Amino acid sequence: MICFTLSADTLHGMSTQVDRYRGHFDALELRLDLLRQNEREELLRGGTFPAWASEIPVILTFRRESDGGGWNGDNTERLNFLTALVAEHAGHLVGEGQKVFLDLEDDVVALDAGRKAADTATSYGVQIIRSRHDFERTPEDPAATLAELRACGGPGEIPKLAVHVRGSRDLVRLVRAAALGDGRAIIVGMGPYGFPTRVLAPRLGLLLSYSSDAGQGRGPVAPGQIDPQSMAEVYRYRSAGPTTAVFGIIGNPVLHSRSPAFHNAEFGRQGRNAVYVPFPTDDLTAFRELMELLDIRGLSVTIPHKEMVADWFTGAAVQAALPAPAAAERVSELAAVGACNTVTRDTRGNLFGANTDVAGFLEPLLSRLPDLNNRGVTVVGAGGAARAVVYGLLKAGARVLVLNRTLHRAESLAGEYAILGKITAGALEPESLPAVILHNDVIVQTTSVGMKPDTDADPLAFYTFAGTEVLYEIVYAPPRTRLLARAEEAGCRVVGGEEMFLAQAKLQAAMFSQV
Ligand code: ATR
Repeated sequence: MICFTLSADTLHGMSTQVDRYRGHFDALELRLDLLRQNEREELLRGGTFPAWASEIPVILTFRRESDGGGWNGDNTERLNFLTALVAEHAGHLVGEGQKVFLDLEDDVVALDAGRKAADTATSYGVQIIRSRHDFERTPEDPAATLAELRACGGPGEIPKLAVHVRGSRDLVRLVRAAALGDGRAIIVGMGPYGFPTRVLAPRLGLLLSYSSDAGQGRGPVAPGQIDPQSMAEVYRYRSAGPTTAVFGIIGNPVLHSRSPAFHNAEFGRQGRNAVYVPFPTDDLTAFRELMELLDIRGLSVTIPHKEMVADWFTGAAVQAALPAPAAAERVSELAAVGACNTVTRDTRGNLFGANTDVAGFLEPLLSRLPDLNNRGVTVVGAGGAARAVVYGLLKAGARVLVLNRTLHRAESLAGEYAILGKITAGALEPESLPAVILHNDVIVQTTSVGMKPDTDADPLAFYTFAGTEVLYEIVYAPPRTRLLARAEEAGCRVVGGEEMFLAQAKLQAAMFSQV
C-alpha cells in the first residue's frame, strides 16, 4: 500500500491534497498533530467524518514533537483526544467496511490514557500500529526492536519502526530485519541512505510505505519521503512484490540521479517485473552484502564509486579466470579507463563489469562524424569523465589534445594513454591556442565548468569557433551552457550532455535486459 500522509493544517487543505494525488495512493494517514487546534476539534464535533477520508484505509496519527510531529502539548490530552475521536467515528467507519488504524507509540503502553486509547480502538475493530521513532540512528538489532514492538501491546498489533539510516551498514541491518517479517510490519529508513526501504517496501514484504506532498511548502513530512505519484508511476510500486527483480544505482549523493526515471520506464515498456532504485552508498563492502540480500541483478555506478568498482574486475586473479576474449577485452577497457559504470550479476551471483560511458560518449559523436580516424580533438579537462572520453577517442583513431587547468594532470593522462594512440597535453590557457587550432575537428568539454549554478562560466573563452567544429558538452544542466551556445551561434554542430546520458543508459538497459 502507498500511504499518503496528509500534512495540511486544515481539513480543507487535506482534502485538496487528496484531490491532487487522487488515484496514486491506497491509504491515507491523517496527521492530527499538523492540524490547527480548532480543525482538530471540528473533527470531534462534526458528527460525520470527512467523506474523502472514509473511502479507503485510514491511519489516525497524532505525533509528538519528540517523534518528529507537531504536538508539544500534554501527552494525556493527546491520547484522550485519540480515544474520543475513535469513540466518535470508528464504530461507523468500521461498520461500513473501512479499515481504520490508530498509530500509538510503544512507550504509551505504560500510561493509563495510552492503554485506554488502544482498548477503545480495539473494541471498535480499529487496528493498532505500534510505533517507535529514532531520528539519530538505526538500532544494532532492528529485528529485536520489531519483536519488542509486537509484544508490548495487545495481540495482533502492527509494529512500525522508523529510524534514521546513517549509512550502508545500517541499511543492511534494516533489510535483514525486513526479511524476517510476516508481511505485517512497517519499516521506514529515514534520510538518504534509508531511501531504498521506501520504494522497496513491496519487495521487502512490508505492509506499506509512506509518501507525502512535497508541494505543501513544508517539504516532505519525514526525511526522504517522496510524493505518491512518483511512488506509483516512477517506482511502479503497486505492481511490485516479493519476486520483483532489483536493479539500482550506487553513488553518493545519488537521489537526484535521472537514471531511476529512465530505467524504471524502460522496465515498464518491457513489461518486466523489476524496479530500479537509487542506493546512496558510503561503504562498498556493506553494499556487496546488500547485493546478496536483495539479489540485485544489475547496477549503474556513479561518482565517487566508479574507480573502486572497477577494482572488483581488474584484479589479477579476476583477469586470470576470464573465460572469453570478449570478457577479457571488456576488463582491459575497465582497467584502462579505471572506472566501471555498469555491473550485472548472474543467477549464481557472479558479477560482470562494463563501462558504457565510452560507447555512450562515442555514439552521438559518430552520428555527426562517422570517421574519427586522424581527426584532431581537443578535450577540456583531465578528470574521471575525461578518461572515458579520451580512451574512446584514441580507440577510434583520433589525435587528442588534453587541456587542463592543472597541467600535470593532463600530462599524466597523456603519458598513461600514449600507448593507445596520438595524444598530447597542454594547460587550459590562451597559450594553448595554436595547439587547439591543430585539434579542432571536435572539441569536448568534460569539466563541471558552466554547470548550474555557475552557468556564466566558459572554460574555453579564449577560443573563437570557426563554425566547422563539432562541440561536445558533457554538462547537461543547463542543457545549453554558455560554451555550447557560443559554438551553436558560430554555426557548429553541437552535442549536449543529455545525448551522452541517454546513449550510455540505453546500453546499460540492454545489459540489464540480459540478466
Ligand atoms: P569528473 O570525474 O567529473 O571529471 P574530477 O575527476 O574531479 O571530476 O575532474 C574535474 C575536472 O574538472 C578536472 O579536469 C578539473 O581540473 P583540475 O584537474 O585542474 O582540478 C576540472 N575543473 C573543475 N573546476 C574547474 C574550473 N573552475 N576551471 C577549470 N577546470 C576545472
